[in-house]
Amino acid sequence: MSFKAFEVSEGPDNGYRSSVVNKSVDDLPPGEVLINVQYSSLNYKDALSSSGNKGVTKNYPHIPGIDAAGIVEKSADPHFLKGDKVIVTGYDLGMNTSGGFAEYIRVPASWPIRLPEGLSRKRSMMYGTAGLTAALSVYNLRKMGVSPPNGKVAVTGASGGVGSMAVAILSHLGYHVTAVTGKKDAVNMLIDLGAKEVIPREALDDQSKKPFLKAQYAAAVDTVGGNILATVLKSLHYGGVATCCGLVNSPDLHTTIYPFILKGVRLIGIDSALCDHALRKEVWEHLATDWRPAKMDRLINTCKLENIQEHLNKMLRGQLSGRYIVKISS
Ligand SMILES: NC(=O)c1ccc[n+]([C@@H]2O[C@H](COP(=O)([O-])OP(=O)(O)OC[C@H]3O[C@@H](n4cnc5c(N)ncnc54)[C@H](OP(=O)(O)O)[C@@H]3O)[C@@H](O)[C@H]2O)c1
Repeated sequence: MSFKAFEVSEGPDNGYRSSVVNKSVDDLPPGEVLINVQYSSLNYKDALSSSGNKGVTKNYPHIPGIDAAGIVEKSADPHFLKGDKVIVTGYDLGMNTSGGFAEYIRVPASWPIRLPEGLSRKRSMMYGTAGLTAALSVYNLRKMGVSPPNGKVAVTGASGGVGSMAVAILSHLGYHVTAVTGKKDAVNMLIDLGAKEVIPREALDDQSKKPFLKAQYAAAVDTVGGNILATVLKSLHYGGVATCCGLVNSPDLHTTIYPFILKGVRLIGIDSALCDHALRKEVWEHLATDWRPAKMDRLINTCKLENIQEHLNKMLRGQLSGRYIVKISS
C-alpha cells in the first residue's frame, strides 16, 4: 500500500530540502499499531527536524510530525481495534520515528491514546502537543496551589503555539493573564483569547544584576527560556511558581539562588513527550471538557502537506502566530 508523506532529505551541500513523496507502508518502522492519519499539527520541534537539527532527528531522509490523530487501520495489540479513533503525540514520533506528516504511521501500542469522548480528531490537533504542553503547565500550577485569587499569571511566547494555548486555558479557568509577546500585531489576538493585558517581551528581559525585581506575578508559564525566564523568576511573588518548557529565547538560564531560598519560588520543568500515560490521559480529558478553550477556534489555520515547509520556515523565524493544523486525509 502506498501513501503520501512530507519527507525531508539531506542535500549534497549539507542543506535540507523537503518534498511530498509517495512511500510504502512497508517503509514504516516496526510497531503494533498502524494508523491512518487524518490530521497533524505544526510544532517547533517539527521546524527543527525539517531544518536538519540533529538534536531532534539524527538520520535523513525523514518524515517529521510529532502529532497525529487518526483511525487504527491494523493492530497487533488487543487494546486497539481497527476503527478506533486515536491520538499520538510525543514519544519519538516525528523525531527518529516516521511522523505524522504522512497518511500512515506505525507505532508501539504504548504510544496512542483513545480520543476522549466529545473531542474530534480535528480539534485534538488544534491542541496537539502545544495544547498538551500548555495544559500540563496549567495542571502543575494548579497542583502547586496556584488559583485565580493568587494574582497575575504571566505567559511568555504568548502568541506561539504553547503560549496561545496557555493564555486560552488560563483565561478560560478565570486567571488574570498577562501575555508577554514580541509581536506588536498579536495584541488584539491575545486580548481576544482572554489575556487581561499584553506587555512587550522587552519588559521581561531585565539586564540588571539585581536578584529581585518588583513582585508582579503569582505564577508564570514560560515557553521561551533564557533571560526572559530569569527575569520571570525575579518578578514572582513570595512562593510564586513558574513552569518552563521551551528554549526559543535560549536554553541557558543565568539566575541566582535568591528567588528560591529567600522567596520560596518554585520552578517546574514540563515534558510532554515522555510524560506518564495516565497523566496524559487525564490532561486530554480536561482539554475535551472543563478546560476546553473555545476561543482558540479563531486562531486555527489549516495547511496541507504541500505547504508545511513555508509555515515551518516562519516558525523558525519566530513569525508564526497561533496554531496550524495539517489536513492529511479525509
Ligand atoms: N517541553 C515540552 O514538552 C515541549 C512541548 C512543546 C513545545 N516545547 C518547546 O516550547 C517552545 C515553544 O514551542 P511552540 O510550539 O509554542 O513554538 P512557536 O509556536 O514557534 O512559539 C514560540 C514563540 O516564542 C516567541 N519567541 C520567538 N523567538 C523568540 C526569542 N528569540 N525570544 C523570546 N521569545 C521568542 C514568539 O512568541 P511572541 O512573539 O508572542 O513572543 C513565538 O511565537 C519551543 O522551544 C518548543 O521546543 C516544549
